[in-house]
Amino acid sequence: MPSVSVFGAQWGDEGKGKMIDLLSRDADVVVRYQGGANAGHTVVVQGEKYVLHHIPSGILHPGKLNVIGNGVAVEPEKLLEEIAGLRERGTIIDPEHLQISARAHVIFEHHKQLDALAERWKGEGRIGTTGRGIGPCYADKAARTGLRICDLVDEDDCRKRLTAVLAEKNALLEKVHDAPTLILEAELEKALSFGRELAPFVCDAAATVRRAYREGKRVLFEAAQGVMLDLDHGTYPYVTSSSTGPDGIAAGAGFPVRDVERAIGIAKAYCTRVGEGPFPSEEHGSEGERIREAGHEYGATTGRPRRCGWFDGVAMRYSLELSGADAWIVTNVDVLTGFDELKVAVAYERAGKRYEDLPAELADLDEITPVYESHAGWTEDITAMRSFEELPEATRSYVRWLEEVVGVPIEMLSVGPERDQVIPVPAL
Ligand code: IMP
Repeated sequence: MPSVSVFGAQWGDEGKGKMIDLLSRDADVVVRYQGGANAGHTVVVQGEKYVLHHIPSGILHPGKLNVIGNGVAVEPEKLLEEIAGLRERGTIIDPEHLQISARAHVIFEHHKQLDALAERWKGEGRIGTTGRGIGPCYADKAARTGLRICDLVDEDDCRKRLTAVLAEKNALLEKVHDAPTLILEAELEKALSFGRELAPFVCDAAATVRRAYREGKRVLFEAAQGVMLDLDHGTYPYVTSSSTGPDGIAAGAGFPVRDVERAIGIAKAYCTRVGEGPFPSEEHGSEGERIREAGHEYGATTGRPRRCGWFDGVAMRYSLELSGADAWIVTNVDVLTGFDELKVAVAYERAGKRYEDLPAELADLDEITPVYESHAGWTEDITAMRSFEELPEATRSYVRWLEEVVGVPIEMLSVGPERDQVIPVPAL
């Protein structure tokens, strides 16, 4: 795998952390290229749980270079906490194993406050953000008023830029939101101290990644969130503020599109979503509750209960096609054990008309209902199984049926949180 993109194909929380940890065994460099501490990538190693927010999931394998690309919105305080937490547990974090792009944008206190205030302002129309300041930070990036990691390590530059930015943000806090203002000197002191701590890791990350690739190193691009939350192609406005699929790699890692050789989508065997927005196959009743409890579907970053529902074949076809996926991986297959009947949305219906494709308009998406087909479930515990042949007949035929509905081959199944709880799926 000289270069591979691994991305979430649903609404986030597909179990990317575990799969990227696993796939990064075969990589030399692992690169995060978008999102920020809104992500919580969970990896379980020998019963120990790690939740990564900025640092690529390759960090738990010794000897890999992990890169935080320019497209990531970095919350320095959280990142430093993450570094300290990993070091405490024996993970080596030094500039040989972790590099941060000088061009990555920084999340400040005002971004987090404005994120919460904007949500309050929106009332019923709120997005249900993670509250980590993601939207306001990317908005400042686009407005060309953001500060980047390189600005934190240069005291004069930091002072000049933060003074100008905070004057405007304080006016916004005070005059629009009637909220307390932030004190420039305190914010500046924090920013400079973060800059000093992060300085050893700061580099031209894009050049590092391109050089590594040129030298024949294997590069894995780790996405956060999922394609259905993509700023352009997701269920706008109920999305995050970055490009969550492989198309984000060029901008967010400074790596040419033509050199991304494979794309692998990650999806759960059912669907979940946190926050507001359309979710055609959501189950509001006892089936949704049963999936939530069986899958422990509570947010890794916010602890919020996730909305749960059946696998959505229409959304999956859309997201894999959009992303040019070569294959996909199905996670949490074990969660479906014990259900008599497994439903999959194979099409949508609206006003008596059948739709095979995801409608582009949010209003249309709100009005559709899924057309379900069912498959028999299984009762056997599959968590200790390691080969496709070992799986119950119903599980195997369910997996083959998913491949047929979606039209893209499934490469692997995940049947539990541990690294080794995976099953390769033979090609047909
Ligand atoms: P934001 O990214 O915090 O602005 O949140 C925007 C939307 O994306 C909200 O619906 C969040 O719940 C959702 N979201 C953001 N990050 C994640 C994630 O890592 N997993 C699942 N949903 C996410």
